[in-house]
Amino acid sequence: MGKRDASTAANYNVWRNDHTTASLKIDFDAQVLRGHLVQDFSRQPNTDGEDASEIILDTSFVDVKAVSVDGKAVPFEVKPRTGPLGEPLHIKLPAAAASAAVGTSVRVRIDVSTTAACTALQWLTPAQTSNKTAPFMFSQAQAIHARSLFPCQDTPDVKSTYSFRIASPHPVVASGLTVTDATAQQVAEDDDILESVGTKDTLYVFEQKVPIPSYLFALASGDIATASIGDRSIVATSPDQLKACQWELEQDMPKYLDVIEKLVFPYAWGEYNVLVLPPSFPYGGMENPIFTFATPTIISGDRQNVDVIAHELSHSWSGNLVTSGSWEHYWLNEGWTMYLERRIIAAIHGDAYFDFSAVIGWKALEDAIEGFGATHDYTKLLIKHDGIDPDDAFSTVPYEKGFHMVYYLERLVGRANFDKFIPYYFKKWSGKSLDSYEFRDTFLEFFDKPEFADLKDVVAGIDWEGRFHTPGLPPKPKFDTTLIDVCYKLAEQWKSKDFVPSPKDVEGWVANQKIVFLGEIQGFADPITVEQSEKMGAAYGLVDTQNVEVKSAYYVVALRAQDKSTYQGTADLLGTVGRMKFVRPLYRALNKVDRPLALATFEKNRDFYHPICKAMVEKDLGPDANRK
Ligand code: BES
Ligand code: ZN
Repeated sequence: MGKRDASTAANYNVWRNDHTTASLKIDFDAQVLRGHLVQDFSRQPNTDGEDASEIILDTSFVDVKAVSVDGKAVPFEVKPRTGPLGEPLHIKLPAAAASAAVGTSVRVRIDVSTTAACTALQWLTPAQTSNKTAPFMFSQAQAIHARSLFPCQDTPDVKSTYSFRIASPHPVVASGLTVTDATAQQVAEDDDILESVGTKDTLYVFEQKVPIPSYLFALASGDIATASIGDRSIVATSPDQLKACQWELEQDMPKYLDVIEKLVFPYAWGEYNVLVLPPSFPYGGMENPIFTFATPTIISGDRQNVDVIAHELSHSWSGNLVTSGSWEHYWLNEGWTMYLERRIIAAIHGDAYFDFSAVIGWKALEDAIEGFGATHDYTKLLIKHDGIDPDDAFSTVPYEKGFHMVYYLERLVGRANFDKFIPYYFKKWSGKSLDSYEFRDTFLEFFDKPEFADLKDVVAGIDWEGRFHTPGLPPKPKFDTTLIDVCYKLAEQWKSKDFVPSPKDVEGWVANQKIVFLGEIQGFADPITVEQSEKMGAAYGLVDTQNVEVKSAYYVVALRAQDKSTYQGTADLLGTVGRMKFVRPLYRALNKVDRPLALATFEKNRDFYHPICKAMVEKDLGPDANRK
């Protein structure tokens, strides 16, 4: 198999990683991970003429101390950093390995430490945690930050099983299943990871027996307590947040699993757990296997933001079992996941909610495309990643344009037929990575069956190339707007400057309806006035809400109205939430109306933010923002 991922320097077409043992000590004092990786690589077929005398791995800001192959030290070199791919590590293989036959395996041990420049980890002091008792750390490897943890074939095109042996003075969770005490004890005796570490450490052992790409490697450690949220699920979080997290999730978690297992096929990973992180977690959720990592902003006390969990759970099939082979084809992960998420929500709350969520997504897609410009490469379904940092190309486009690719195919063949295709597709590619063309071929192959003879013409008429490569908005389907019309209607009334609002206007609304309403107001050509903004905030309870989705959407409206009464509230929110979905739009909006306050707020909170978030906001705020 050739090399199709532009975001890796690894020669994975020649040598391929099948198993990884990560023996790492979490050093909270030095704020580094250190230890060793033992990786097995097998010689790949059909690579005549390729140089097999070295294994090239991705690294970024790691300190490689020693490398050995099959027990013997070998020469290695970390090449200089040239672009977003980092600093490739070249490992010289002994002559015998270099000329080994296809299928031969070599075992590489790398002794390594992370550095202060690591982009995949955030370290929190006890003072930065909610109950202040212990430090906390967590990793976030997607898209190409695993290489900042340890040298690896950092590409979604390579999948490896993993053993984790993690030494820490505090409880650890990881993207593997916990191994029983007796086995863990044995491992501790066999591994030298504990030799050099303090007696306060415990060795936590996990196994991931389903092959996973590097971006799903995950760890977190700190004062973590757990509670049940279903027969296969626990929630883990700081002890003082545990009850609230359990309440938020326990109602929907079993239902989500039930619905999606019927839609696709039984859950393959054993447990599905959720780790609720400190507020600086930069995403809504991250689908790390066994433990989804989630922002605490989903704990809003009203169970109105838990659809994030339906999304991350869906990744257990789309993304984690069946993986896009490169970031160019990322829609296969996120577009499919949006589709499955919406199917779950519809099964639980009713079909109108499928369309409701899709309309919210459509608006986000319109905004993203307007932001990039309708002909920009990043508005295509397939996004070339040569020379590009995936974090820069990241947007709602693969999510929502990807959703529309899947939803278009569903409507074309009809839901009943498409529902037969879903398990077929996920079974066929389970444990593998694929690209958009392989997806196309799978779809065509399935609908070529005699039972679908009457669909022959419609299927033959699909303009795959157009769908894959045309920039801008895809064709817009007709949505059921039952839940949305009231939001549009209310927004329309606000066009009249003397509209008098009342709490009754939004009585009985779910949070997403307020978000649709606020999204409409954000889009007004003529912004609302300061007085209108104040009245809106008061009448609809938009400032006092615990729901950060609603609150931040209101602040964007209020800032656009230059409602000074909300500037400080915005700055305060920016000091308590680090989820980029909220942080980036709020900084951009604040920057437009009060740049000194935006810069001062960023300066004050820069150590609170995750390294990725910090880098993104620095880019968004431009000159003066990156003084450190
Ligand atoms: N895999 C993503 C998060 C991600 C994307 C991390 C790119 C790093 C790089 C995750 O599944 C996701 O999409 N989360 C969303 C929530 C969802 C409900 C759309 C988020 O973080 O907002
Ligand atoms: Zn996702």
